[in-house]
Amino acid sequence: MAEEMRVLLEYADKIDPESAEEYVKVGGYVGLEKARKMESNDLIQEVKSSGHRGRGGAGFNVGLKWSFVPKNAEIKYVVCNLDEGEPGTYKDRIICEKNAQALLEGMAICGTAIGSKQGYIYCRGEYPSIVKLLKNAIQSAQKLGVLGDFNIEVRMGAGAYVCGEETALIESIEGHRGEPRFRPPFPGVAGLWGEPTVVNNVETLASLPYILTNGSAWFAGIGAAKYPGTKIITLTGDAVNTTFFEVPTNYILRDVIYKLGGGVKGGKKLKAVQVGGTSGAFIPEQNLDTQIDYDSMGAIGAALGSGAVFVMDETRDIVDIVTRISKFFEHESCGKCNPCREGTFRCREIMEKINSGKASSKDIDNILLLTRVMQKAAFCGLGQASPIPIQSTIKHFAHEYYRKII
Ligand SMILES: Cc1cc2nc3c(=O)[nH]c(=O)nc-3n(C[C@H](O)[C@H](O)[C@H](O)COP(=O)(O)O)c2cc1C
Ligand code: SF4
Repeated sequence: MAEEMRVLLEYADKIDPESAEEYVKVGGYVGLEKARKMESNDLIQEVKSSGHRGRGGAGFNVGLKWSFVPKNAEIKYVVCNLDEGEPGTYKDRIICEKNAQALLEGMAICGTAIGSKQGYIYCRGEYPSIVKLLKNAIQSAQKLGVLGDFNIEVRMGAGAYVCGEETALIESIEGHRGEPRFRPPFPGVAGLWGEPTVVNNVETLASLPYILTNGSAWFAGIGAAKYPGTKIITLTGDAVNTTFFEVPTNYILRDVIYKLGGGVKGGKKLKAVQVGGTSGAFIPEQNLDTQIDYDSMGAIGAALGSGAVFVMDETRDIVDIVTRISKFFEHESCGKCNPCREGTFRCREIMEKINSGKASSKDIDNILLLTRVMQKAAFCGLGQASPIPIQSTIKHFAHEYYRKII
């Protein structure tokens, strides 16, 4: 299998992403029309039956998440997570740039399912051009009347990675400092301004029009059985074609890198691949035949995360890369909880010691112990996942660490 399968990106660069009229001409807003004719429970069931799972990293069943929203609540919100702060990830930007109307339609489908009239798109602060594009797209859809009484507003973040975490994102929209909230209650029950709120990723929402238009069985039949559909992959690092691809979820990592990505630059050998963004595991060459679906990645101790694939060739210094990553997490830790605030600081400190050739093997034992505590005790996913690059590289590339210690 070497071809892309374009669903969300089928009309990329063929239609104006801002124009609702152009989107309608290629079958847009048919899914929403169908959704509006369905009972809420049937619509949620249709999305559940498709097997569609969140593309923001946690892989939660979309219809199931929606079913937790109380039916009798008067005010409910749909929030689209376009924070996309994960280094190496830009798939949500691509969806907006190529098919923004599908995102708006997906949000309105979600609103129809849960009984919400108000949606917010939380866009990362580094994407000012996308904010402009989305505002124009919303205006175009409103002018054509396709969104009906569903209103969408755009809110801008200010560059904090933690604001991608759904409860920190909600805090940020409310105008507070972006720190995660205790869960439960989950946003589905008490989210934005205390009202039931569905938070879904851009890719998750933009897939909905196609599920509604073509039917849940069609979607369930694409890719991996337990994580069906397509996935947009962003390939970075030492690959020849560092760009984006949309592939079915049973596509294997090796084909992403060698068939679509053209292999490693300069004919060099591959040393490692990091999947899912900065907090993803480093995967050695022998695991490249793994499918890029949520469960297959989990089975090798990795995570699909955002779908970013970062290629490192044989010349790359793994310990140096992990040291830089540990600086990133120290910088992005919001400081709310001790295990992450102190832990990311100490991880960076020990990694720098190892990287500069001043550490002993005791430091490796210490950092492993520290990361195990962080995984168990940190308040949110940032602190819990930040140890993964350290642990996975000590597991698969231990020789690179021991080469640097005294
Ligand atoms: C530190 C951190 C950063 C996150 N960043 C993002 C992000 O940029 N985009 C995103 O969709 N989800 C992000 N998430 C996951 C969200 O909390 C949430 O699970 C997701 O938006 C739900 O959408 P989905 O069910 O459609 O995947 C992040 C989680 C954590 C812990
Ligand atoms: S784990 Fe880190 S980012 Fe999350 S609440 Fe604690 S300090 Fe903040």
